[in-house]
Amino acid sequence: MNTSKILNFVLALCLIIVCIKFITSGNESNSSSKEDYLSISNNKEKMKTLLDTTTMGKLQLKNRFVRASVGDKTHHGELNKEATIQLYTDLAQGGVGTILSGYTIIDESEKGQNIFAMYDDKFIDDHAELTAAVHQNGANILMQLVHLGANYNAKDKDTHIALGASAVPNLQTGIVPREMTQADIDRLIQNFADAAVRAQKAGYDGVEIHGCHGYFLHQFITRYYNRRTDKYGGSMENRNRIVLEVYDAIRQAVGNDFQVWIKVQSQDAFDGGVTHEECLYLTNELAKRGIDAIEVSGNFWDFRGNEAFFKDIANQIATETGVPVIVTGGNRDFAVMEQMINETAIEYVGMARPLIQNPRMIGEYMETKK
Ligand SMILES: Cc1cc2nc3c(=O)[nH]c(=O)nc-3n(C[C@H](O)[C@H](O)[C@H](O)COP(=O)(O)O)c2cc1C
Repeated sequence: MNTSKILNFVLALCLIIVCIKFITSGNESNSSSKEDYLSISNNKEKMKTLLDTTTMGKLQLKNRFVRASVGDKTHHGELNKEATIQLYTDLAQGGVGTILSGYTIIDESEKGQNIFAMYDDKFIDDHAELTAAVHQNGANILMQLVHLGANYNAKDKDTHIALGASAVPNLQTGIVPREMTQADIDRLIQNFADAAVRAQKAGYDGVEIHGCHGYFLHQFITRYYNRRTDKYGGSMENRNRIVLEVYDAIRQAVGNDFQVWIKVQSQDAFDGGVTHEECLYLTNELAKRGIDAIEVSGNFWDFRGNEAFFKDIANQIATETGVPVIVTGGNRDFAVMEQMINETAIEYVGMARPLIQNPRMIGEYMETKK
């Protein structure tokens, strides 16, 4: 082999090495772009879906759907057992992850209103059957606790003595409540805590404090109804004190492993009603105390549409408090709901009327996702 041939051979070898290097580096860049793609698709997988399993404390929620409270008919709190258990079984079998019971009175003086009641131990056994049926069918259930105050609408409303922050005629019912004494307030707070303990004994996964829709606690925190001059009236802090005390009493009575939620009024439509600022004050204070979740509601009857009516304030509450938020009212379109939970800090969607119409709608939605 002469020198020029050797040189050509070396040159060709170098060329081949450079080509191999080039191709390999191309492969490397391909593999890194594949990684990028994978990481993008992983991010995609991290998108929230309505069917995600999540936890709140020790409670597992099999999807992000919550059946918002719908009042149940009873005879002075005694369950219409067969029909009621069937209704809740249908909901659980229909796929909703978590059910809030119909509003439940905590004070015997309101027993004329024929809804759920938990003011006495005698109600525990029937509710234990109800919660067992729901759990057997794979859903969670929390009991919603209420005091109606001047928003009392039972047959005996003309003779019933309603309690309120101040003796201001109710805008809906016209009832003028009796202004509560400190002893009344203490007793009512204790009633909430006792009812929560009974709910716990009956197998509920938690309780929700009803703080909206014009019932007692909602009335109490408004400037319009609350004209008190003691530590429960005047400033925003004072007017909200009773709700915080109800929460504290319940939490102390049931411990940290039992879910305690609240349903709040995001805003009122009347002068002297709850403002966004006041709602945020309350939810921030409850967050500091360890509330497990906040359901955001308001005057749902004033709205129409297929998007969460209270989305913006619910997002603000979720962002400020860091507490799981359920937004209820107007959730109708699954695609809109899924977009909302990805674009806001809202984690859960509550539904009442759609599930009255079709208790199986979540299961049907799950079928479309298979
Ligand atoms: C028949 C009926 C009964 C209701 N009962 C309750 C109740 O017991 N407690 C409560 O907080 N809200 C109650 N609500 C309000 C719902 O929980 C919910 O906040 C409202 O219907 C808006 O949600 P939606 O648009 O999904 O129906 C009731 C609503 C309806 C239609």
